[in-house]
Amino acid sequence: MTDQPVHIRPEIAILPAYKQGRQAAADAFKLSSNENPFPPLPGVIEAVQAQTAYNRYPDATALAVRAVLANRFGLTVDEVHVAPGSVAILHELAKATSGPGDEIVYAWRSFEAYPGVVTVAGATSVQVPNRADGGHDLDAMAAAVTERTRMVIVCTPNNPTGPIVTGTEFDDFMAGVPSTVLVVLDEAYAEFVTDPDAVRGASLLERYPNLVVLRTFSKAYGLAGLRVGYALGPAYVLDAVRACAIPLSVTAQGQAAALASLEREAELLARVAELAALRDRIVAELRGQGWDVPDAQGNFVWLPTGERTAAAAEAFEHAGIIVRAFAPEGIRISIGEHEAVEKLLETARSLVGGLTTTADARPIR
Ligand SMILES: Cc1ncc(COP(=O)(O)O)c(C=O)c1O
Repeated sequence: MTDQPVHIRPEIAILPAYKQGRQAAADAFKLSSNENPFPPLPGVIEAVQAQTAYNRYPDATALAVRAVLANRFGLTVDEVHVAPGSVAILHELAKATSGPGDEIVYAWRSFEAYPGVVTVAGATSVQVPNRADGGHDLDAMAAAVTERTRMVIVCTPNNPTGPIVTGTEFDDFMAGVPSTVLVVLDEAYAEFVTDPDAVRGASLLERYPNLVVLRTFSKAYGLAGLRVGYALGPAYVLDAVRACAIPLSVTAQGQAAALASLEREAELLARVAELAALRDRIVAELRGQGWDVPDAQGNFVWLPTGERTAAAAEAFEHAGIIVRAFAPEGIRISIGEHEAVEKLLETARSLVGGLTTTADARPIR
């Protein structure tokens, strides 16, 4: 069909849809979407199955989940917002703060949804290259803030490269950003962080009135398929976010799963500790092979495969491991099933000689 009479915003017409990590064949490991290899926590499936009023709308305010989270973080329910995934909240925040002529600053490379979030809001992306070690260059990000900036996104640990922002780095950064600019601290992988120096956003909300913290049930809690994420921040900002939200989009099943998961903290921490330990082992072994792996604090590791990224991704696929390739920079591999580890390490070993000691290796950006 060539005739396209309907007007589409030009920036949207050229915007690619969000590209999901590849699905894996039945005998392959899907390590391309930073999902949790564990099923939901005990009791969660039962709680979901008990929600059978499919003919009724869910609670549009997700009040029960917000009440538990508010209690946990010492906030009021209005200082908590629940949405169908934290990616939905990113869209809501961008729409609430920014429009044509406004700028949103974020590190690059970072979470691949950020550029689309900004464009859909009608605003302009200002991407600040990461440091050579894969971490945010927060000085450069603060310097990129202008009178047009409405929002800055800080992703810690950074997806896909892995390093965290430290508490000290974050405080220094906030000192350089006007309080009229909203700072969004995207902590989608917070539960996996073991570095004691890492920033912890929830404890800083009182200090910074322009801070919103994003968390999700998709990663550590293993509920990616049920779509529940949340924001913590000032009530008036989250009221604006709620006004931008698509109503009724957090299902009753998602809310029940989130509530049941929040009651299973001990099991959650045990699983998270197991995945973090596996991550640390994989990083140590990859570094032992000669890979220049940045500090990994999420549930994924980054291999700087440079110009050979597509070929390296193909080699992993051939070995039965689906990874996420970001050509021409590198590959992100999620920490998944124990059974995938030997294949992963074996394939990485077969690739390392041709990549890290040649001009193919690029700085991590
Ligand atoms: C940094 C980051 N933020 C947010 C999200 C969105 O997660 P969800 O919408 O499932 O809560 C992801 C998912 O991969 C992510 O990596």
